[in-house]
Amino acid sequence: MDPRQLQLDDEGRLKHFLTTDGLDRALLTEILDRAEGFLGVARQAVKKVPLCRGKIIANVFFENSTRTRTTFELAAKRLSADVLNLNISTSATAKGETLLDTLRNLEAMNVDMFVVRHADSGAAQFIAEHAAPFVSVINAGDGSYAHPTQGMLDMFTIRRHKGAFEPLIAVIVGDVLHSRVARSQIGALRTLGAAEVRVVAPRTLIPALAEEALGVRVCANLDEGIRDADVIIMLRLQRERMNGAFLPTEHEYFQLFGLTEQRIDKAKPDAIVMHPGPINRGVEIDSAIADGPRSVILEQVSNGLAIRMAVMSMCIGTQNLALANANRPAETVEAGVGAATEIGAKTEAEVEVEVALHG
Ligand code: CP
Repeated sequence: MDPRQLQLDDEGRLKHFLTTDGLDRALLTEILDRAEGFLGVARQAVKKVPLCRGKIIANVFFENSTRTRTTFELAAKRLSADVLNLNISTSATAKGETLLDTLRNLEAMNVDMFVVRHADSGAAQFIAEHAAPFVSVINAGDGSYAHPTQGMLDMFTIRRHKGAFEPLIAVIVGDVLHSRVARSQIGALRTLGAAEVRVVAPRTLIPALAEEALGVRVCANLDEGIRDADVIIMLRLQRERMNGAFLPTEHEYFQLFGLTEQRIDKAKPDAIVMHPGPINRGVEIDSAIADGPRSVILEQVSNGLAIRMAVMSMCIGTQNLALANANRPAETVEAGVGAATEIGAKTEAEVEVEVALHG
């Protein structure tokens, strides 16, 4: 099934979050606006809101992660959910259990949401297609396909620094070919209306027909790519996904494509520098830039918490509406009355969160 259809309910609300592709500007903006409200939770004496109270969220990471896994866990806890962290290296997967059997066993524990990272492109979609009704799946990065919450936390960081997307020139530098992050960023930047999205990389690390397929401008070298840019996004070299000789040496790569203080002068004076992490200092980026005044790399991590709270609470909200409708007598569903949670109306938990955030 097309992931774009799979992730929305009949009314266009977010049910799963698998990719930014196919989601319209209004929905992406709703995620950003909702995340804005959650930033305040970090400043509260009690850093919790009740939007996912009574829900079970399972983090199922088949690939290594520092930022994504921990911010998903913290975000779920701030939403008052119960959290399961499956350690794949010590789980029955190591004994040969299939992905689907792992899923079914966790569903037997009444898990309401799976947050999935997997080395195979399409794994999160596969799980969403096979998940029980009223169970949501969030893609925490699958192969080279998508990393939508990373894409959205990057959009959130850009919006907080730059305001509107329309005048912006954004450049993405590095291993675009293997990068799920780049795909999610490019899709979101284009949907949100950025003036120009450029990519810069050795030819071996740029997807075939990138200009037509991704709607980006491919630049021949870094100086051309970052000229007058407002946003510079550096990518990690995805060695684990390279099955051949894509590069001469890391030293040569840094000479040609590494971001240094000399090179950054070609960008706008107020340009911001981003990197999804983990960073390889002296390979993609000089430490003076990574730790310098234009770097927003650690802000991206903090913003990830708010974006993940936004996405999880939206999916759980959609589930709650579906559950409420499923539990209503047929005649009241048809009449559209009597639901515990009305479509378009605020849920009890949403009222509680508004009180918690705004008094
Ligand atoms: N940006 C990102 O996905 O980092 P992790 O691999 O540490 O989760």
